[in-house]
Amino acid sequence: MTPDFYRGRRVMITGGLGFIGSNLAHRLAALGADVLLVDSLIPDYGGNLFNIAGIEDRVRVNVADVRQASTMNYLVRDRDVIFNLAGQVSHIDSMRDPHTDLEINCRSQLTLLEACRHHNLHAKVVYASTRQIYGRPDHLPVTERQLVRPTDVNGINKAAGEYYHLVYNNVFGVRACALRLTNVYGPRQLLRHNRQGFIGWFIRLALEDQEIQVFGDGSQIRDFVYVDDAVEAFLAAGATDAVNGEAFNLGGDEHIAHRDLVRLLVELAGSGRFRFVEWPPDQKAIDIGSFYADSSLFKSRTGWAPTVPLRDGFARTLAYYRQHLPHYVGTSSV
Ligand SMILES: NC(=O)c1ccc[n+]([C@@H]2O[C@H](COP(=O)([O-])OP(=O)(O)OC[C@H]3O[C@@H](n4cnc5c(N)ncnc54)[C@H](O)[C@@H]3O)[C@@H](O)[C@H]2O)c1
Repeated sequence: MTPDFYRGRRVMITGGLGFIGSNLAHRLAALGADVLLVDSLIPDYGGNLFNIAGIEDRVRVNVADVRQASTMNYLVRDRDVIFNLAGQVSHIDSMRDPHTDLEINCRSQLTLLEACRHHNLHAKVVYASTRQIYGRPDHLPVTERQLVRPTDVNGINKAAGEYYHLVYNNVFGVRACALRLTNVYGPRQLLRHNRQGFIGWFIRLALEDQEIQVFGDGSQIRDFVYVDDAVEAFLAAGATDAVNGEAFNLGGDEHIAHRDLVRLLVELAGSGRFRFVEWPPDQKAIDIGSFYADSSLFKSRTGWAPTVPLRDGFARTLAYYRQHLPHYVGTSSV
């Protein structure tokens, strides 16, 4: 990516007040882009106005829902690059309320792509997909050639959302690609409840000197990506046509078991403790076991590589929340 690609570029981020979207907004504001953030701020989701503290004068915020076609038709009109990150991200919520997940993660993707097809064929769209679409891997590391076989409703709808982007690229000329993110961590993630991934919740418990419950024996492996590295991947994908029409794994280079991760967290936080507990049946039913991705395709296509070691990333993350915890700990039910 040439350093000034985003200078003056008209960019839109759906889900722009959420975890990854707001980190992307900070970087784009620093690069001099014209940034429009679209977010519905649905209670209990990841959107948080504090996430844009420090850049509120340099970005525009439109509190809108991606399910609304007329709004999306209007908002996409003058945008050069659209980072499409709005989503219902809780796997367990997708099983409890599958229709909402369908509406946001599947149907709304068509709404955005139709808006581009009819009102802005010039825009490039980068979609935030997920490793969840693979389900339980046949072998590790997981390449893009493995079967897509989701274990939950969220994975099914995200897979459909992803394929819509690829079809609109191939058939209608809406330039689009998808990044299948593994586990992203870092500042500005929701910590209010434990239904949106375990990592933010573990960080909160460690900082509050509470007990972290690790399901099973903690042997399941993950590859974490620090959010700044994920942001650079989105920027790289948005700036090149060499990725159009394809989906790419985006994972970290370090693989770590849950039990070693909590040890690291407790060590770095200097507080908290952990205990192994039985899997809750509803969590066990949708668990994907160990997962780490082979991201070499995206690396070779864009030159991207993760740069933040796990230990540094978690130290930075803990430092951020130590300073700003009240903005991330609300009154939500667990
Ligand atoms: N964080 C991860 O580890 C991870 C892993 C795989 C995929 N992803 C994907 O990346 C994207 C961003 O995830 P995140 O971790 O930043 O989550 P997040 O919950 O912090 O951000 C999602 C944002 O989308 C907004 N949103 C939800 N529904 C909306 C709607 N109908 N209209 C407008 N805005 C809406 C939310 O308010 C929130 O701000 C999601 O699409 C998610 O599926 C994230």
